[in-house]
Amino acid sequence: MLLVTGGAGFIGSNFIGRALEALDDEIVNLDLLTYSGDLINLVDHSDDPRLHFSHGDICDASLVRQLLDTHRPRAVLHFAAESHVDRSIECPDRFLTTNVHGTFVLLQETLKYYRTLPGQEQDRFRFIHISTDEVYGSLGPDDPPFNEYSRYAPNSPYSASKAASDHLVRAYHRTYGLPTIVSNCSNNYGPRQFPEKLIPLTLMRARQGLQIPVYGSGKQERDWLFVEDHCDALLRMLDCGHPGEVYLVGGSGSISNLQIIERVCAAWDELAGGDRVRPSFSLVEHVDDRPGHDFRYDIDTSKAARELDWKAQVPLQEGIERTVRWYMENEQWIEHIAGGEYRSWVDRQYDMNG
Ligand code: NAD
Ligand code: DAU
Repeated sequence: MLLVTGGAGFIGSNFIGRALEALDDEIVNLDLLTYSGDLINLVDHSDDPRLHFSHGDICDASLVRQLLDTHRPRAVLHFAAESHVDRSIECPDRFLTTNVHGTFVLLQETLKYYRTLPGQEQDRFRFIHISTDEVYGSLGPDDPPFNEYSRYAPNSPYSASKAASDHLVRAYHRTYGLPTIVSNCSNNYGPRQFPEKLIPLTLMRARQGLQIPVYGSGKQERDWLFVEDHCDALLRMLDCGHPGEVYLVGGSGSISNLQIIERVCAAWDELAGGDRVRPSFSLVEHVDDRPGHDFRYDIDTSKAARELDWKAQVPLQEGIERTVRWYMENEQWIEHIAGGEYRSWVDRQYDMNG
């Protein structure tokens, strides 16, 4: 049995699909179903008797305790979080509550549960915390990529809250011996990502022929990791990751926001076919920069390669094409997601402001 938090979100739902395929475990998914979490993301597995759902908050200690005591998992995989940098700038409160306090509650209850396990079960128990490369702040154009020894220097309320959660995870390992593992990964992309993030936002806007907002110069760089590759790295951590360790998980090297938008638009135009009047990339409009915008992230994945025998398998172009195809073939998902909080977010951000 695995306890997954945030399994109705983007990475969590992809992980659940992967884990049901690869493992024999049952899974209990604890998710509050905030704006970015939706059971439509798990619809392919709704008939799977191995998947259980608990609607609730990771900050609810008695619920977390009850789930641990009832299901007696061999691992906790903690995805639940407020995950969008722009929202953290607009309204940081919830980021502190969920990402910091929620992680604390989960650690504290997991520790109590862990202490009740017999020796052998303690030996194989793992708490896997899904974190981000953003905790290391921003690289300059010529800096070497982040590695596991990079200094923490978070710049947004989001990354500060994730950094705080990482420190708590570390403390629970060092002080109490909880067997934790942290994945500090780069920008994930792929099916079912909420379209506030750059790649699905670009696709939604290209689909509608609307302006594609680029913050500032668009020269900022990100490393892009196909979500399935990240899920496979997490399965490797579960299988052979060392307690107390941190692994950096990344894709194919950093490229600029304008370059990634160009490639996503080109794939969209190519796959959409038809008689487009102008290429989607011409919808790009430079808008005000994100406050505190990190210039560049890049990742050294050699430790994950060495210790987990893991390497990203999906090249960027293939990942983009698979992602574009998924958004094209899943109109129902788009209609469902686009009606609600997505609509009011883009109205607030772009469309109402001219
Ligand atoms: P997401 O926003 O798509 O999903 C978050 C999920 O957590 C949703 O299902 C939501 O309902 C749930 N949730 C939020 N608050 C909760 C609470 N208080 N209790 C229970 N459930 C709650 O996020 P994602 O992109 O899938 O990210 C998953 C994790 O990976 C996050 O911890 C994020 O910080 C981290 N991460 C994401 C990326 C990325 O590129 N998306 C990269 C690095 C790290
Ligand atoms: O690096 C890992 C992080 O990647 C995760 O921890 C976060 O959860 C995830 O949201 C992501 O953060 P970013 O801020 O890098 O992702 P986002 O998709 O919001 O933005 C990617 C880049 O594109 C960033 O430089 C900002 C820029 N951008 C974003 C949006 C939404 C734009 O230029 N225009 C936009 O409209």
